[in-house]
Amino acid sequence: MKIVTVVGARPQFIKAAAGSRALRREHTEILVHTGQHYDPNMSEIFFREMGIPAPDYNLGISGGSHGEMTGRMLIELEQVLMKEKPDALLVYGDTNSTMAAALAAVKLQIPVLHVEAGNRLGTLSNPEEVNRIVTDHCSRLLFAATEDARSKLEREGLGERAYVVGNIMYDSFLHFADLPWEPHILDFEGNAVTVPKEYYYMTCHRQENTGTDEPLTEILLAMNSLDAPTIYAVHPRNHDRAARIKAKEGLQNVILTQPVGYSDSVHLTKNAKKIVTDSGGLQCEAFYAGVQCVFILDYVAWPETMVGNRNQLGKPDREDILRKLSAEQTIDPNYHPFGDGHAAEKICDILRDVTL
Ligand code: UD1
Ligand code: UDP
Repeated sequence: MKIVTVVGARPQFIKAAAGSRALRREHTEILVHTGQHYDPNMSEIFFREMGIPAPDYNLGISGGSHGEMTGRMLIELEQVLMKEKPDALLVYGDTNSTMAAALAAVKLQIPVLHVEAGNRLGTLSNPEEVNRIVTDHCSRLLFAATEDARSKLEREGLGERAYVVGNIMYDSFLHFADLPWEPHILDFEGNAVTVPKEYYYMTCHRQENTGTDEPLTEILLAMNSLDAPTIYAVHPRNHDRAARIKAKEGLQNVILTQPVGYSDSVHLTKNAKKIVTDSGGLQCEAFYAGVQCVFILDYVAWPETMVGNRNQLGKPDREDILRKLSAEQTIDPNYHPFGDGHAAEKICDILRDVTL
């Protein structure tokens, strides 16, 4: 089959690393990068470090409002699909790139394959939720990471197209977690950061937590008062805000870094005391690594992780975060809800059996 895969944002590169490797063993893949994430440490570093094939197209579309970005992608992606005439379009996750590609393909009657289908927070106030719902309803095949995600698809009348394959991010995590680690972590000035023996690892970039100073300030004040430094790998959209809050509040115990590469992120996760994040992917990686996590959002993203205090919902509130961080973890070590790390192969097996 000829498959066009569309990626655009950091978590999709990480998923495509596993996906492209497996797909290309038996299919022709055309890789399209929308350009949504474009800084070298948000994009190029993942292609290089994870051996992702170079994109056949880079549309260079980023920034602007959600509607504008999605609309521009839709126009350009339609052109690519009309030219390439693929047998199917494959997308990952829930970004604007995901939804734009699914819409472009379904309008051209090209079957859409959605990897990481069925995740739901239960609120349309989250921008990614809109992308998930639209993409799932445009898709011919839905590859769910967990049984819970599949059951949500069933509730929306999509059960017959859904398959549980495990979490494709787990494929990439297992591969990189076992490789040796040489940290390449830079602060905002470009100086190398020495990783402390004991530290907390944090990422925080969601609109809900970083759109104004208040929530991010609360989160950083909580981290600053802990018994070890926090390494905060900052998304470029929060660079200025994070630097300003650190200076204003005198946060000596918080180390601000540029976005890190995947190997750095995985190893920072594995070796952290605990993790605080609003990232969908990082909370799962914390789970795989057996490291406790506080997920700062009002809604559960991965219910499977919310077991025995391994992962807890937290508010952008200093006291709440500190209370959650002090809870003990009680979890059955044999509990593995995310598959066996071979999601990409399972997707290929299903593609062999199903007529699109
Ligand atoms: C997107 C995804 C989100 C994911 C996040 C991080 C959507 C709706 N959301 O949000 O699910 O968690 O990526 O992976 O698609 N910017 C840069 N350099 C870059 C990339 C972005 O400076 O390389 C800045 C730009 O000013 C841009 C802003 O960050 O306007 C926001 O980027 P955008 O892609 O719109 O959304 P994310 O917050 O990254
Ligand atoms: N990640 C990374 N470098 C960073 C921060 C995160 O490689 O500086 C990785 C992280 O380990 C996880 C993924 O990026 O694999 C999560 O992506 P992100 O938080 O951007 O998006 P989300 O998961 O929220 O969709």
